[in-house]
Amino acid sequence: MLYASLKAIHLLGVVVWIGGMFFMVACLRPAAAEALEPPARVRLMHAVMRRFFAAVTVAAGIALLSGAAMVGLVWRERASAGLAFNMPLDWYAMIGLFVVMAAVFAHIRLTLFRRVGRALADQAWPVAAAALLAIRWEVTLNLVIGVFIIVLVRLGSAA
Ligand code: HEM
Repeated sequence: MLYASLKAIHLLGVVVWIGGMFFMVACLRPAAAEALEPPARVRLMHAVMRRFFAAVTVAAGIALLSGAAMVGLVWRERASAGLAFNMPLDWYAMIGLFVVMAAVFAHIRLTLFRRVGRALADQAWPVAAAALLAIRWEVTLNLVIGVFIIVLVRLGSAA
């Protein structure tokens, strides 16, 4: 029951992060590019990303803590039965790729997003557009890694 609850919480964190990235690159960004002039587009993207990145910080923390708690539960269960704990390979991959995603997210949030904020304040639209483009590619990279993790872990648990 505890394990199932942790897994549900884990998945909710993953849904917020990965679903939000899909919405951002596949729906919001192209719609804003089509409908808005650069000043309004940069202002909108900045306001949306400020909220979304705060949500991602919480969602990634939840995914990490719930994931670590599940690993801990399985380890304790095996140890109390006197058995060795060999973590499945797909779990290693999930944790390793999470670290990559967290590093990419940190670069987006702490470097690129700040650059957009400064360009917005200076009304330097080409600088803002270049930073938004870089964010788009890095979010796309994280989206691909996130989807890959989901497929991998689902395949792993079906094996
Ligand atoms: C963004 C990164 C992550 C994604 C996309 C992700 C995705 C998933 C998914 C889809 C499942 C459900 C698997 C299933 O029941 O079929 C799962 C389970 C799990 N995750 Fe993650 N996860 C991530 C990060 C982490 C981290 C950082 C940890 C550990 C510190 C972790 C540990 C676990 C564990 C232990 C399970 C349970 C697996 C099982 O019961 O078979 N995950 N994860």
